[in-house]
Amino acid sequence: MAATANPHKLAEIAAILGSAVELLPRPADLGEITEDGDTLEANARLKATAVCSHTGQPAVADDTGLEVAALGGAPGVRSARYAGEHADDSDNRRRLLAEMEAAADRSACFRTVAVVAFPDGRELLAEGMAAGTIAEAPRDNQGFGYDPVFVPDGGDGRTFAEMSADEKNAVSHRGRAFQALAEQLGR
Ligand code: IMP
Repeated sequence: MAATANPHKLAEIAAILGSAVELLPRPADLGEITEDGDTLEANARLKATAVCSHTGQPAVADDTGLEVAALGGAPGVRSARYAGEHADDSDNRRRLLAEMEAAADRSACFRTVAVVAFPDGRELLAEGMAAGTIAEAPRDNQGFGYDPVFVPDGGDGRTFAEMSADEKNAVSHRGRAFQALAEQLGR
């Protein structure tokens, strides 16, 4: 099954789906896929069907967003470009903390939608969610995306960025979405 071009994500997904599914990196000659859908589901489907039509093989793709209650669900589907078209992770975190300066309610959740597209047009879809709160300031700035400012509920107060990959995967939105997908695939 063809999947993401990101080697970290590929390893994470392979660990969850198990050895019964052979995951291949997204072909390099496919180029960038414009993620211009209005929802996480639309973007995940866009990527999965593009890779599936290009390779003629089943393909899996996911899309993730951070939904913040005090911001009416933003940045949501625009999480990657929250601080602008060419924003990097730290730009996005800075904008998020600035927007939340006066917010009393710091609750938020990560949501991931994962889609498998098959060459015959069938698809599988699964969703995963992780609830938590936005920290006042980043902790462990090396972390990926919004991880340094996200404290998951039910933990010991550490941000996702301060956890090991295994600790994060066990309770994360992406981990849960791919667990649910693995169940649908009969693993
Ligand atoms: P994508 O759908 O995986 O490309 O993610 C969209 C944006 O959400 C990324 O640019 C990241 O900033 C953020 N993001 C996705 N997954 C995570 C995560 O597990 N932790 C923190 N931020 C994430």
